[in-house]
Amino acid sequence: MALETRRLDKFLADHLQINRREVRILLARRTVSVDDKLVVDGNVLVNRFSKITLDGNVLQAIEPRYFMLHKPVGVVSATTDKQHKTVLDLLSVTDSDGLHIAGRLDLNSSGLILLTDDSRWSEALAHPDKNVAKHYRVTLKNRLDESYIDAFANGMYFPYEDIVTQPARLRIVSDYEADVWLTEGKYHQIKRMFGRFRNPVVALHRISIGAITLDNNLAPGYYRPLNPAEIESVFAAMQP
Ligand code: URA
Repeated sequence: MALETRRLDKFLADHLQINRREVRILLARRTVSVDDKLVVDGNVLVNRFSKITLDGNVLQAIEPRYFMLHKPVGVVSATTDKQHKTVLDLLSVTDSDGLHIAGRLDLNSSGLILLTDDSRWSEALAHPDKNVAKHYRVTLKNRLDESYIDAFANGMYFPYEDIVTQPARLRIVSDYEADVWLTEGKYHQIKRMFGRFRNPVVALHRISIGAITLDNNLAPGYYRPLNPAEIESVFAAMQP
């Protein structure tokens, strides 16, 4: 879902209902700014979040939105669903408008879900090169032992996708609980990895994604906007 871009001169012509020659004059008179920088080149690409002003008057200034939500068990990570309540149903109508989910959880998993209307941001989070770690607390039906640690670290072959999973970190928390850090998100990945030990997952909760940790003050079903440091942590991780 790449963020659509268009040329500044096309934006100005459409927005102001003027022709290309009039646009060129406006630009040459140094009246147009993009993101608070003066622009004279009509080829410059803008997107729906670019702040565009003409003589100091705002033509477009849409702030992207970012939220964290505590997904309860039984709510589906989708924007619409015929059978179940969706994570978007947990947001107010105005907040949920135009949002998409950055990283899903299974119906019977709980924990941190991120939502945004900024596809540059969600793409950065999902980019395989960025190795953004997702941290889960897993509760199992049977006892764990140390042999799980190496099996997760070495990767497991998934014949359906014909891939070996990326090295994953596993820390034993108690006889029936483990913390797992994944840098990818294959279908039912954690359940399938514990399935190799014939050890069913009875509860799966996501604690964090990269530097963003589920707020302890958010009860299941509640959400809040991300703060600037949380938003910026994802763009900072994008730097090579
Ligand atoms: N792995 C799973 O099996 N389920 C999730 O919801 C997330 C990771």
